[in-house]
Amino acid sequence: MANSVLSSSFSLCTKILMRPQITRLFSASSAFRASVQVGDKLPSTVLFEHNPGEKVVTTELFGKGKHVIFGVPGAFTPGCSKTHLPGYVQEHGSLTKSKGIQSIACISVNDPFVMDAWGKAHDADGKIRMLADIEGEFTKAIGLIIDLTAVLGNHRSKRYAMVVEDGVVKSLHVEPDGTGLTCSLASNILEDL
Ligand code: BEZ
Repeated sequence: MANSVLSSSFSLCTKILMRPQITRLFSASSAFRASVQVGDKLPSTVLFEHNPGEKVVTTELFGKGKHVIFGVPGAFTPGCSKTHLPGYVQEHGSLTKSKGIQSIACISVNDPFVMDAWGKAHDADGKIRMLADIEGEFTKAIGLIIDLTAVLGNHRSKRYAMVVEDGVVKSLHVEPDGTGLTCSLASNILEDL
C-alpha cells in the first residue's frame, strides 16, 4: 500500500511545482549547462519574431507578469503541428482570459521566417508569439538543447512547457524522452494555473 502510494506520486513526466527557497540566476553564456529548474530566473537572450530584423529580448517579454512558454523540436514537424501548437492555439482564451496569462510564446531552434509561416498555417497570429531561437542561445542557456542531427539536421529544443512569473520559472514540464507529447501540452499547463 505504502509502495503504491509512493510510486503513484512519481509521474513519468518531469513535472515540478515546488516553491524553492532561492531564485537562481540563469546565465545566457553558460551553454549546455544543467537544465532550468523551478525558481530559476530566465536568461536574457535575443529571439526573433517574423523576420531577422524583429528582435525580442526574453527578459523584456517575460520579465513582468505571467507568461507561458512552450518549446518545440521543430516547426512543421508532425507532433508539433498536429498536437503541440494547435493545443495552445485552442486554449489561448482559457489561458489568457480565465487564467491571467499575458502572453504565450512558442520557441524553437528555427529561423524566424519558418516560425512565422508555421504560426500563420495554424491561425496563431495574435495568440501565440512564434519566436525563433536562431542559434539556440536561449535553449542552450536553459539546458534544454537536444541533438536531433539524425532526424532534423542539428541541435534543437527539447519539448517543454513552463509558466513564468516576473521572469522566474513557476512550473516546468520537460518531456522525459525530449520529444514526446505527454506532459508539455496546453492541458498540462492549465492544470498548473
Ligand atoms: C515531431 O513530430 O514533433 C518530431 C519529429 C522529429 C523529431 C522531433 C519531433
